Amino acid sequence: MNGPFSRLNRLYEKLESKPEFSYKCHFGSPITAPNYDIVGSLKLLLDEPENLFSEYPNSRCTSELKVSIFKYLSRVSDCDVVSDLDVLVTSGTREAITSVVTFAKHKKKKKSYAIVPSPCYPGYIGSCKFNDLDVFSVPLNEDNGFQPDLTGIDREILENTAIIILTNPGNPFTYYLKKETIEQVLSIAEEFDIECLIDECFFDLQVSSDLNPVSAASFFEKSRFLTIIHSLSKRSASAGLRSGFIASNKFKISEIANVRAFISPTVPNIIQQVSARLWDDELHVNNEINSINEKIKVFKDNFGNSVLYPEAGFFVNLKTEDEKNLVERLYAKGIKSMPVSFMEHSNGEFNTNKKHGYVRVGLVYGFDDIVKICSIIKGVYS
Ligand SMILES: Cc1ncc(COP(=O)(O)O)c(C=O)c1O
Repeated sequence: MNGPFSRLNRLYEKLESKPEFSYKCHFGSPITAPNYDIVGSLKLLLDEPENLFSEYPNSRCTSELKVSIFKYLSRVSDCDVVSDLDVLVTSGTREAITSVVTFAKHKKKKKSYAIVPSPCYPGYIGSCKFNDLDVFSVPLNEDNGFQPDLTGIDREILENTAIIILTNPGNPFTYYLKKETIEQVLSIAEEFDIECLIDECFFDLQVSSDLNPVSAASFFEKSRFLTIIHSLSKRSASAGLRSGFIASNKFKISEIANVRAFISPTVPNIIQQVSARLWDDELHVNNEINSINEKIKVFKDNFGNSVLYPEAGFFVNLKTEDEKNLVERLYAKGIKSMPVSFMEHSNGEFNTNKKHGYVRVGLVYGFDDIVKICSIIKGVYS
C-alpha cells in the first residue's frame, strides 16, 4: 500500500539538505515514559510463584483483565455493561482492526464496500484492501464539523457495504463523534445490515475540558452491529506494551475469536495482568492529560488561532496554504511532521493530491523538547 508514511519518506529522501537529527513528530507514538510504573508492576508479577511462561496465554482474555475492561467500559458509558457483552484481548488496536474487518468480510461475503472517513489512520485502508473491500471515502472537514455524514450515500452502496469504520475521537482531526452522529450511523448499520467498528484508542485523553464526550460503549445495549476497539498505547502512553481489546456482544466476539484463532498474535499472560492494572487506574491517565495540556499551552501561547488544537490526544494541526512546503521546511530544521492531505484517500488510494491545508504535529516528546520544537516551528511558521 502506498500509504502516508512511505509517501512522506519519499518526500524526505528527495530533499537535498537533511538534518543530522530530527524529532519524530510525524507519528503518534508517545516518546515520553508512561505515567505508570509498568516496569515495577512487571517485576512484582515476576516475583509471584506461579509460572507465567510455561503455558500458552489465554487467547481470548484472562478473567482478571476482562473484569478490568468491563469496569472501564462501565465508567465511560452512561449505562451498566450489558449482560451479553464480551471482550477479546489484542496486541493493540492495529491488529484488532484487521480481525474485525476480516470477520465482517467473511460474514457478508457478497458485500464489497467499507465506509471509511477521510483523512484517517492508514491502518483502516490497509485492512480493507487486504480483505478485497472497496473503500467508500467519507470526507471530514471544517464544513461538516469533522463529523462523518453518511446520510447522502446511495442506497446501492449502503446495501453493498460490509463495514463502517469510525474513530472516536479522530486522527488526524481530533474531534469526538457527536451522540447524534453515532446514533445516525448505528441506525444506518441496522437498516442495511452493516458491521460498525468504532476505534476509541484516543478516547480517554480528553484535553478540552468543556466537553462531555460520549463513548460508543453507551450504545452496546441498542445495537448488535457495534464493535469497539481500544488500546493502552495512547491512554497509558505505552505503545510498546502492545495491549488492546475488542468489545462486542458475545455472539460476535465468538465469531471474531474464530477468525483470530488463525491470524492473530496472542498476548502473554503477564502483559494481560499488567494491562488489567492499567485499565483500572485513571490517575496515570489524568497525569498524562495534564502533561499534554501543559504542552498544548506552549503552542497556544505561541500560535493562538493559527493552529487547530485537539479535543483529545496529542496532535496539533498547523493551518497552512502549502502543506508540503511547510513539511519540507520543518524537516530542514529537524522536525518530522505529516501533511494531513497525505492521510486523505479516495477509492482506497492515498495519492489524492487534494490540498487539506493542515500539517499534523504530534506532541509526543516531554515538555522541554516540546518547548524547543515549538520555538523551531516558530522560526519556520508564522
Ligand atoms: C486512530 C488510531 N487507531 C489505531 C492506532 C494503532 O495503535 P495501537 O495498535 O498501538 O493501538 C493508531 C496509532 O497511531 C491510531 O492513531
